Amino acid sequence: MFHPDPDFDRRAAALLRAAANDLKRDDTAAERDLGLAPGTFAELTCGERPVSWDLLSRAARVWPLSERDLLPLRDDAPRGVRVMRAEESFASSRTLSRGGVDYYEYRDTAMSRIASYRPEWIRMLQPVGDNDPLNPEVRWNRGHLLYQFTYFVGPVNYYHRWGDHVACVPMSTGDSVWGLPFAPHSFTTRSADEPAYILALTYGGELVGDAQRELAVLGADAARKSVLPFTEDAAAPALLRAFVLARALTLEELADRSGLTVAHVTALTDGERQPTEGDLGRLAEALGISIRDLLAPRTTTDGGVAVRHAASARRWHYPADSPAYRFTELAGDPSHPHTSALEVEVLADSVASASWLTTYQHTYLYVLGDQPVRLLWEAGGERHIADLRPGDSAYVAPQVPALFVSEGSEPTEAARILLLRIAGTVRPEVRHALGAMAEDGLQRYINEDRLWYATEGH
Ligand SMILES: [Fe+2]
Repeated sequence: MFHPDPDFDRRAAALLRAAANDLKRDDTAAERDLGLAPGTFAELTCGERPVSWDLLSRAARVWPLSERDLLPLRDDAPRGVRVMRAEESFASSRTLSRGGVDYYEYRDTAMSRIASYRPEWIRMLQPVGDNDPLNPEVRWNRGHLLYQFTYFVGPVNYYHRWGDHVACVPMSTGDSVWGLPFAPHSFTTRSADEPAYILALTYGGELVGDAQRELAVLGADAARKSVLPFTEDAAAPALLRAFVLARALTLEELADRSGLTVAHVTALTDGERQPTEGDLGRLAEALGISIRDLLAPRTTTDGGVAVRHAASARRWHYPADSPAYRFTELAGDPSHPHTSALEVEVLADSVASASWLTTYQHTYLYVLGDQPVRLLWEAGGERHIADLRPGDSAYVAPQVPALFVSEGSEPTEAARILLLRIAGTVRPEVRHALGAMAEDGLQRYINEDRLWYATEGH
């Protein structure tokens, strides 16, 4: 059971008011629909009376919505940051065997209810004497939904399968990989005595939450038909065809509107021709959309994964003039532009010489190496501090300024942190929509506190 949480109750009250507004129910109409005594709806929506599960069920029965639409998120990082100590991670340790042999030791690291991360520290228990992907000692999984960013420590062998293609990539400390959902993979160690573990930072991103629930209702057939190709050449024509269908256009009408010939738009929708910049401008104009809506995603994945070895990774100082950090770019993919994986060496040894880092992304961090680091952050108009030790991990909420200082570490050795930043559901489409709202809309969007019209008439 959860402790009483006034903020949760307030958010539930706001969602109830917002739903009633959407359905154009004033208090009297809502009370009639929900079987409530007169005056009760105002008490519920101003937070005087808690929204009960029974009320949610009733609302889901009589109104065209689901219980989930009226349920707020639980906030487990009310001060912007949630820290998980190495000891807590250790306490979550469990060993999983595959085919009767102990294969992995798993430990949880920092997670939050407001982000889709499921980051695990995983130690490889199976040693191998070769780099053969078909080695029978390699126990494969069936793949999983979540995207996986993996950071390697020690002599770890990484195995991945994509269709008929299997591969083994020998990894060392600082190497990383980013992988697509449901691709089978495995990990072993090349040494029985050296530490060999990974930070397996899985996250659902755009795939979990509402999209998954919507497609589960629509069914497998609709889901299959909703697929857009991932490859650049096939994606652009598929996007164009989707808009032509959505707008109920003929190719003749599209040609007429865009000033292109029928043969040209046919070739573009068939994928026989890739659109030029000029074509894209004309098509966007003709369809009444933005050019970006016609652009294919880009990917650098090969066999479902993008590998980045530490030796060839890009490194830079930040800020350029008086560096507080040295960043290393880790594995990622252009198809996930809102994911950033970084290794950070903390060069600053005082707050004065450090630099604040703020992003729209959710941030996961893990203290690598053997040096402690001090995390400072600002939330609710206050500055907070957490001294993090090796093996500690933390979650930092979006838009929370954070700063790292090497504190208590050996002067010769910088503290090292792994950062994985991901987007939540507040994607550019949503953020542009926030910018498009009429004045005062934003405050009501996150906390609807009133009927959509004034009962006194103005
Ligand atoms: Fe995995």
